[in-house]
Amino acid sequence: MDVVRGLAGVVAVATRISRVDGDRGELAIGGYPVEEIAPHATYEEALYLLWHGRLPSADEAEGLHHRLASRRWLPAGTVTLLHAAATRDLPVMDALRMAVDTLQLDGRPARGGDLDANLDAAVDVVARVPTIVAAYARMRSGSVPVAPDPARRHADNYLRMLGIEATPALVRALETYLVTVIDHGLSASTFAARVVVSTRSDVLSAVVGALGAFKGPLHGGAPGPALEMVFEIRERAARSRRSLDDEARLWAEEAVAAGARLMGFGHRVYRVRDPRAEVLAEAAQRLFADGGDPRLQSDARTVERAILEVLRSRKPGRRIETNVEFYTALLLHGVGLDPELFTPTFAVSRVGGWTAHVLEQIADDTLMRPTSAYVGESHDRFPPSASRPD
Ligand code: ACO
Repeated sequence: MDVVRGLAGVVAVATRISRVDGDRGELAIGGYPVEEIAPHATYEEALYLLWHGRLPSADEAEGLHHRLASRRWLPAGTVTLLHAAATRDLPVMDALRMAVDTLQLDGRPARGGDLDANLDAAVDVVARVPTIVAAYARMRSGSVPVAPDPARRHADNYLRMLGIEATPALVRALETYLVTVIDHGLSASTFAARVVVSTRSDVLSAVVGALGAFKGPLHGGAPGPALEMVFEIRERAARSRRSLDDEARLWAEEAVAAGARLMGFGHRVYRVRDPRAEVLAEAAQRLFADGGDPRLQSDARTVERAILEVLRSRKPGRRIETNVEFYTALLLHGVGLDPELFTPTFAVSRVGGWTAHVLEQIADDTLMRPTSAYVGESHDRFPPSASRPD
């Protein structure tokens, strides 16, 4: 029996939600190229597109905004849990995973029998993930959570709840990010969500499963370390008086020789540059041109080029290119988020994709149950404990 390790290349579902072409470096979200939709759509529009298979009219987008805005409040039990997590200073992603599990405490069902009821459960969780992240981030830093503002749209309200003065440029930059990463084929977390709900479990359980898969450094956990890497290389260059390019090459040579994975590079599906990297690099450029630290943008480009050259020479034939996380780090830093919020903010977006896949999987109603090849030992008889070796 052939084992396809990591299920690489296995086509497990048919989906209308996003199309990823790893050889050509293309991503289409709900049928629209990411380069086209990300700089223009609101998060609500992208979400509607994924949930309903078409773009909303102005009234429908407004309707979804109101529906989400009315569901942003957290159950009291969720707030209590977040306070308990903050006293232990748990990482934001751990608090988020635990908090999502408590959302049922308000008595609303985690799923219903029909599409509308499941959609309702999806609205609930998408509306509340930003509230959980923002409330917890503020509790953890000793500040009082900021209440959701129903007049503000999803991205704007998220920034406000984080205590960030939301200028139109910042909101657009964050929204471009949220739309860019809302869905990406059958990523590990999306697959996890679909597996959970394929057993006829519920929307909330699927999101909890997805969060568990998502927070690992090989998936959603990479952008924080990617930014730290750029800062570390800059500091080393300042100390050594080498050029940034030379320092980056030296740093990457050492890291690869030590067997490290360079965060923000490589992808299971893309063999060329991740198209999302360019969308986010351009969004960062627009943002930094408007204020902030334009030097960081050009330094990141220098570090990226140097690292890619080292990877090409040290990992020939592997075709390791820049992935979405490298410019995520830059853009979210420009928006004013702490690195600890990069992965949770990715989840704020991706929960839209997870729920769309969950709804698609519920409609498909097929149990996901692959097969394993047994490679352990085989014995004829069960030995009594007295006859076993010490
Ligand atoms: N840095 C150094 N070497 C790398 C990197 C990297 N970023 N990525 C892959 N490689 C090397 C591996 O060490 C391996 O080399 P070897 O065969 O000499 O041992 C080879 O390339 C193949 O590695 P695999 O793990 O088999 O490749 P896979 O396609 O499964 O990896 C992954 C994809 C996990 C994303 C990997 O590229 C990685 O670890 N990248 C760094 C973490 C990261 O940026 N994650 C975010 C991904 S984007 C997202 O999930 C939203």
